[in-house]
Amino acid sequence: MPKANKKPLVVVTRKLPDSVETRMRELFDARLNLDDKPMSQAELAETVKTADVLVPTVTDRIDASVLSKAGDKLKLIANFGNGVDNIDVATALARGITVTNTPGVLTEDTADMTMALMLAVPRRLAEGFEILEHGKWRGWSPTWMLGHRIWGKRLGIIGMGRIGQAVARRARAFGMSIHYHNRRRVPAKIEEEIGATYWESLDQMLARMDIVSINCPHTPATYHLLSARRLKLMRPEAYLVNTARGEVIDENALVRLIEAGEIAGAGLDVFEHEPAVNPKLAKLARAGKVVLLPHMGSATLEGRVDMGEKVIVNIKTFLDGHRPPDRVLPSML
Ligand code: 8YV
Repeated sequence: MPKANKKPLVVVTRKLPDSVETRMRELFDARLNLDDKPMSQAELAETVKTADVLVPTVTDRIDASVLSKAGDKLKLIANFGNGVDNIDVATALARGITVTNTPGVLTEDTADMTMALMLAVPRRLAEGFEILEHGKWRGWSPTWMLGHRIWGKRLGIIGMGRIGQAVARRARAFGMSIHYHNRRRVPAKIEEEIGATYWESLDQMLARMDIVSINCPHTPATYHLLSARRLKLMRPEAYLVNTARGEVIDENALVRLIEAGEIAGAGLDVFEHEPAVNPKLAKLARAGKVVLLPHMGSATLEGRVDMGEKVIVNIKTFLDGHRPPDRVLPSML
């Protein structure tokens, strides 16, 4: 912990919204990344030697090797983001480093983006844009550009946390019936409010849904949760939407099944090897089978400012000697 008269060194790995950076400068000895150039593993390893607090994002891999270089001063990793799969949390905790994240403030934005993808694929939005953009519209026809209705369809949500519930509320308003699979059944009051049916067996749920939405975190337990075997259980008319983490799906298997017509399509905001995107997915996008977005789920100015403010509250509370509100606990992994 720094001496009382010396501000703590807070290293922020990426460019954050201006108001967040201004506040950080006022409160801390903030080392910002105004050029927004991602840091290499070597740069991260160098940084943790001297920082009091590290503020990484999804693009930084804070693994055991980086953490092994951490100096005695590093006591807090305040992640700018909800998912913490970019951090080896177990190793950090074992070294006495507290880890926090930013839950809650990106729930509604991510749920909105999930709905956008849920509509985009069956209703062929990207194909429609493309036709107009390239001057290819020859006029309306009753049997042209037909997609599929989402009203009355069954939505299976995998992961009924904050975001899953926000998706369920929206999807209900679109006339869908809500089904979910979760590690633990949610309280009856919530089930009732969102009108959700719990499936203990993910396999059984997958086989019956029209649209499947992934809203669970990426942890060792959810890596390739949608394996080739499970993806094969989906109906050929079904669509898959992922705004959580690419690693939850076996992406190669998904590509093969869409190519073979065994799954109708997918809306993906996240990928297994970001920022690389499987060229076969790009090809399927050109064929109108998938809609792809570059990890934009929480990308609203309001959301990113709220995330930044949450980071600041976590740091400030911690440095003032209290438990930060958004500690990541081993039971959450
Ligand atoms: C963020 C996200 O953009 O918070 C998360 O878990 O997936 C995103 O919405 C990103 O993680 C910021 O680090």
